[in-house]
Amino acid sequence: MDLDNREALRANDPGGLGARMAEFPGQLLEGWRIARATDLPSRYGDATAVAILGMGGSAIGGGLVKAIVTDSCPVPIQDIRDYRLPAAVGPHTLVIASSHSGETEETLSAFEEAISRGARLAAVTTGGRLAEMARKHDIPLLEFTHPGPPRAAIGFSVSLILGLLWRAGLVPNASTEMKGAVALLERAGARLQEESPTAQNRAKQIAQMLQGRIPVIYAAEHLSPVARRWKTQFNEVAKTAAFFEILPEFDHNAIEGTGFPEAAQSDLVLISLVSAFYHERSIRRARLTAEILSSRGLQVEGVDVEGDNRLEEALWSVFLGDYASLYLAALNGVDPHFTPNLDSLKQQMAHSEGAD
Ligand code: F6R
Repeated sequence: MDLDNREALRANDPGGLGARMAEFPGQLLEGWRIARATDLPSRYGDATAVAILGMGGSAIGGGLVKAIVTDSCPVPIQDIRDYRLPAAVGPHTLVIASSHSGETEETLSAFEEAISRGARLAAVTTGGRLAEMARKHDIPLLEFTHPGPPRAAIGFSVSLILGLLWRAGLVPNASTEMKGAVALLERAGARLQEESPTAQNRAKQIAQMLQGRIPVIYAAEHLSPVARRWKTQFNEVAKTAAFFEILPEFDHNAIEGTGFPEAAQSDLVLISLVSAFYHERSIRRARLTAEILSSRGLQVEGVDVEGDNRLEEALWSVFLGDYASLYLAALNGVDPHFTPNLDSLKQQMAHSEGAD
């Protein structure tokens, strides 16, 4: 597969996931517009904690927002990817359910529990049972329209959840930062999209490097959820085994876990997402970690992320990883849109109740 052959790329992507990826900056703007027009009850600003519910592609936006506002949000934020809520979630918690389809059973189960605990609630979805529940219980609903798969709606989930926290009075207005991020992504999109040749296209270069290999992406702080996003996109889009690690924890265990099986060493590519905004010790740590791993014969690739603040860096690096997964799907000869195992499992779960 020649990544500079546009027809071949399009033929490998009949569902048009590449076109959906290009909508990222536009989704950010549209999601921000929806959030700006949403009024929330004033008591939401008194929440003593935030819990964001969601799975997979709909969870990643919450994870990113949590990491981006860590310096400005005065209350703790938890992202919950499960059926049950921790005991700490109660009437003073703002619980945000994020589900693209509005049909994800883990998210619905946790949201039902949040309703019964009298939490302050909001829902982010395109419809489904989540929208129905929100309407029935008079819960603020941030509804958006998106015909593609959930993982391609990342711009909506980030801007809607960030906007929701702003409208609740829990974080400052980020309109200016959002505008700056959109401009950065529009410029980056021109370099990353299918028409941009490999020689200038970092995403195509990364995909080529990863063909036939196992990526392990590691990052710190606000880029930790991005490392996870890269992993999940390599899984879902390119059908590739991929893993992620978080610094500084990585240095306390995983750094030793690359010796065996010996044959696997040449299969691994370690990708380090490097930010100028990390804690100064984390910057040093990232460099030393890469040096040690390289000296053990492992391939380590550093990605210096672009952006003038944490929001820009996180969104720019999500964009890069998304396109890299699209091109890796092309090199693997797999349809980036279809997720047959994921869909089959969801169907089987939907047609059974309880444990069996
Ligand atoms: C599919 C995808 C999945 C879904 C997840 C939850 O593109 O990314 O990870 O996001 O199965 O489904 P929703 O988003 O509908 O709640």
